[in-house]
Order: sequence, then C-alpha cells, then structure tokens
Amino acid sequence: MAIAKKLQQSLGSSSLIRQMFEEGERRKALYGEDKVFDFSLGNPVFEPPKQVKAALQALIASDRPGQHRYMPNAGLAGTRSYLAGKLALESGLEFGAEDVVMTVGAGGALNVILKTLLDPGDEVLVLRPYFVEYDFYIDNHGGVPVSVPTLPDFTPDLAALAQAINPKTKALLINSPNNPTGVVYSAQQLAELGALLEQKSRALGHPIHLISDEPYRAIVFDRLEVPSVFKAYPNCILATSSSKDLALPGERIGYLAVSPRHQDRALVRAGTVLALRTLGFVNAPALMQRMLPLVDGARVDLGPYQKNRDLLYDHLRGLGLECVKPGGAFYLFPKAPIEDDLEFVKAAQELNLLLVPGSAFRLKGYFRIAYCFETAKIEASLPVFERLVKQFS
Ligand SMILES: Cc1ncc(COP(=O)(O)O)c(C=O)c1O
Repeated sequence: MAIAKKLQQSLGSSSLIRQMFEEGERRKALYGEDKVFDFSLGNPVFEPPKQVKAALQALIASDRPGQHRYMPNAGLAGTRSYLAGKLALESGLEFGAEDVVMTVGAGGALNVILKTLLDPGDEVLVLRPYFVEYDFYIDNHGGVPVSVPTLPDFTPDLAALAQAINPKTKALLINSPNNPTGVVYSAQQLAELGALLEQKSRALGHPIHLISDEPYRAIVFDRLEVPSVFKAYPNCILATSSSKDLALPGERIGYLAVSPRHQDRALVRAGTVLALRTLGFVNAPALMQRMLPLVDGARVDLGPYQKNRDLLYDHLRGLGLECVKPGGAFYLFPKAPIEDDLEFVKAAQELNLLLVPGSAFRLKGYFRIAYCFETAKIEASLPVFERLVKQFS
C-alpha cells in the first residue's frame, strides 16, 4: 500500500461532504450554475468588509522593512496584545499578550491545542452532532474522540456527559455558535458545564480542559450575546479565527487563547508555541496578523444571514419539518422526514438541491443546510424544498 493504512481508511470514511461537493460540481457543469442549489459547504459567498481590503492595501503599500519575515512563533506582539484587550473586555479577566497565540485558522488552533494536551489514548469528549474534522484532529495527536449525545434542542446533556467522563478524559471540546445546528449555549448552560467539569476534575485528580471552538462567535441573530466561556470554567482554552466573521476562510488567520485562570497557564502557553512550530505552521500569516488590529470592530453584514435563516426556517416549519431555530452561525439542522438521512439527501440531489446528511456530523436522521449564500438563491430554492418534502409526506 502506497499510503498509510490509517489515512487510506479515513479517505473512505471522510468522503460524505466531499462526495456532495463533487456531485454539485458535476451537476453545475451539466445543468448550469444557476440551476443547482448547492447548500453543502459553509463557504460564504459574501466579500470581506471593506476595511479589510483597505488595511491590506495600506500594508502592501508601506515601505516598512521586514513585514514578511519570520517572527516569534506565537505571533506579532502588537496583534496579540490587541486581541488580549478584547478578550479581557469580554471576560473581565486579565488577559495578557502572552496568553494569545496566533494560528493558521481555527483548525490550526485546534490542532496546536490538541498536540499540546494529548497523550496517546487520552479521550476528548465531543457533543454530537459535531464538525466531523474534530475526529481527525483528535486522532492526529493520538487522542480518542468520544461522542456524547445532546438534548433534543442540541444543548449539552449534563447527565450524559457526567456518565462519559472517566480517568482517560483529558478534554471536552465544545462549539457555540454551533456547526451544524446553529445553537448558542447560554451563560447558565456554560456555568453548569463548568461546575460539572470542576467537580469531575476534582474527583479524577487531574484537570479536564475545556476547549471552546468559536469561529462563529460574531455571527448571531436577534441581538443575542455569546457568553464568555472563560467566566464559566478556569481550565479553558479558546480556538477561533476570522474565517467567518471577516469572511476570510482562505487567508487562514486565527488564534488560540489560554485562560489567565488556567491552573497550568504558563506550561500550556509554552506548549502551544512549541506545538505551533513543530507542526510546521511556524507562525500564522504575517500580513493577516498585521491587518487585524487595523480593522477593529469590522465584521460581515449579518443582515443577509438573518434573512436567509428566517426564510428557510419559516418555510421548513411550514412544510411540517422539525427544526431547532438557530441563534447563530449560518446553518440549519432540521430533522429529515424519513429516518434514512442518506436517502433523503439523495432525493434532494435529484432535484439539484445539495444538502449534507446528519450522518456526516455523527447524527443520523437529520440534514444540514448551509445558508451563507445570496438571499435570491435561498428564495429560489424554497419551491424545491417543498417538492422534496412532499415526496415523503
Ligand atoms: C465548527 C468549526 N470549527 C472550525 C472550523 C475551521 O475554521 P478555520 O477555517 O478557521 O480553520 C470550521 C470551519 O468550517 C468549523 O465549522
């Protein structure tokens, strides 16, 4: 075998979303781009806020020497201290620049954190449904993902979590606002989660790290606030990026932050900086780091996302589908009208409507719609959803 057996196996099991993507490309070539409703990938069609382009143009035009050189692995001090200031405001805690490490997107941040924390066989709890890359990220560093069910509204099920925690549990990985459900955890839910982790950590005699993956933090509706996870639990590490809030997923800029209250604050910080280097990231993209403080406060227009959410949610509910109303991100995760989500998604494909089965997020019987597209496209898709659901009623 020419490639590693494990990777070869993963190639087979990770193909659901990829298959969907390839099928979309095939159908677009066959029927025309405008005839295919490809809601499979969370790749926003909207451009970044104007300030981003202006800041990048100014940086490129500047004659300041050394802009593109290697830098300290953790990133530029100015950017890190700017982000620490923002975190301090959100959490009320004394973040310093040294608590922040610039990363290659949230995916890069998660890999750095997991490499820092995991010994072979350590378990990482994930709440299903979840972003399936987590399985690969955890496995990359010798860990074992353990999936725990959520309540019917997709919020954490504390009893199920309590049952899953055992001496091998090293971390809990959460994601709010959530992909694929759009659910946002409340301050109370986070506090209860924190209390459970504190109690279990004490009983186990080692800390259970709470890893909070928050690339959708700024994408929330109805003036919802995403509570700071740092207030809920001391041994907490944040992973995030500008992929969604500045619509820059291709630029790969993100960061991680270690709680000032983390019991191993200095060690975890040092570990992440070394992990970033030895994973071969070396440092996060320099121009993007320089750009961030210059666009303070900018984010994508939430108007189209909220409109798309409302249009789709109301329409699907009107068609009789069960769906939790998302508070953020840009996904809906309705219950399929039949148990077999793969069959349902296949039927949708025949109508040139591309969705992702819940199985791709480890929860059968559901499907995900990404709605980070023009509202006109969403509007045009509504009759197609109607035809699809009617086939099963
Ligand atoms: C829940 C979640 N975490 C992490 C990522 C990775 O984000 P990034 O592009 O910043 O690496 C994504 C991307 O879609 C995501 O949905």
